[in-house]
Amino acid sequence: MRAVIIGANGQLGADLVGILSGWDIVGLTHGELDIRDPVRVREALSRVKPDTVINTAAFNRVDDCEDDPDIAVSVNAYGARNVARICAELHCTLIHISTDYVFGGEKTAPYTEDDAPNPLSVYGGSKLAGEYFVRNICPAHFVVRTSGLYGVAGSRGKGGNFVETMIRMAGEGKPLRVVDDQVLTPTYTRDLAEKLKALAQTQAYGLYHVINRGQCSWYEFAARIFSLLDLRPDLGPTTAKAFGAKARRPAYSVLAPAKLKQLGMAELPAWDDALERYLLEKGYLRK
Ligand SMILES: NC(=O)c1ccc[n+]([C@@H]2O[C@H](COP(=O)([O-])OP(=O)(O)OC[C@H]3O[C@@H](n4cnc5c(N)ncnc54)[C@H](OP(=O)(O)O)[C@@H]3O)[C@@H](O)[C@H]2O)c1
Repeated sequence: MRAVIIGANGQLGADLVGILSGWDIVGLTHGELDIRDPVRVREALSRVKPDTVINTAAFNRVDDCEDDPDIAVSVNAYGARNVARICAELHCTLIHISTDYVFGGEKTAPYTEDDAPNPLSVYGGSKLAGEYFVRNICPAHFVVRTSGLYGVAGSRGKGGNFVETMIRMAGEGKPLRVVDDQVLTPTYTRDLAEKLKALAQTQAYGLYHVINRGQCSWYEFAARIFSLLDLRPDLGPTTAKAFGAKARRPAYSVLAPAKLKQLGMAELPAWDDALERYLLEKGYLRK
C-alpha cells in the first residue's frame, strides 16, 4: 500500500508515520506541501500516485480561528477541497480527519454519525465545510471525526497538548482551574492511528467517529493525569463562562462510534487506559 500523510510532523501525523512504517509511505510536512495551493497539491500527489492519502492538516487553534476566519476556511475547507479533488482524479482513497466541534453540544448522550451538526465556532464551521467538500468530491473517502487529541509529538498548531500543559502547570505550583462543564473523550493519537490503518484496508467508505471509549470533563481529565502521576497541585473546577475562551465550544461532544460497530470493528480502548499508556511512553510512568 502506498500512502501519503499530509501534516506528517503533526501530533497525529507523526504517529501515523510510525504505525504505517511497513507501508510505502511519503510524509509531507507543511513546509513541503501547503494544501491551500491546488497546483502544488496536484504536483505532489500526482508524483507519488498513492493508493491512500491521509490528510491530518488543519488550522486548529480554535480561538485564533475566531479572529482569522479566512485562514481557517482556506486551510480547513478549501484546503480539504483541493486534496479531495486530486484524490478523485487519481482514483485514490482519501482519509480526512475532522472534529467533534462540528456539534453544538445540545445532546446529553453520545453523538452518532447520523446526528445533525451545529458548529458553534469558526473552527467547527470550517471543518464541517471541509467534510462536505470531501464527501461530495471524492467517492472513496473516509471522513473521521475525533476529539481531544494528545500524542507523543505534541500538537504543532497548539504548541503541545493538554496533558503536557497540565504537567507543566502543576510544576509551576500555581492554582489550576480547569473547565468542568465541557464533556468529551480525550483520544490518544496512537490508538486513532491504529484504527485509521485498519479502516484504510477496507472499502467501507463513509463518515466515522473514532475516539477512545468513555467520557470526562477537562477537569476530570486533569484530575486523572495528576492521580496517575501522584501529583497534588491546587486543582479546582471552573466553568467555560468563567474561563472565558474566545471561541464557543460544545458543552457535550462525546462521539459514539456507531459506524465502526456496524462494520464489526472493535472500539478503541478506554480513555484512561490510553492516558496511562501515553504517560508510560513519555517516560512519566514506569512499568
Ligand atoms: N488536536 C485536537 O484536539 C483535535 C481534536 C479533534 C480533531 N482534530 C483534527 O485532527 C487533525 C490532526 O490534529 P493534530 O492535533 O495532529 O494537529 P497538529 O499537531 O497541529 O498537526 C497539524 C499539521 O497540519 C500542518 N498544517 C497546518 N496548516 C497546513 C497547510 N495549510 N498545509 C499543509 N499542512 C498544514 C501543520 O504543520 P505546521 O505546524 O508546520 O503548520 C501540522 O503538521 C486535524 O485535522 C484536526 O482538525 C484535532
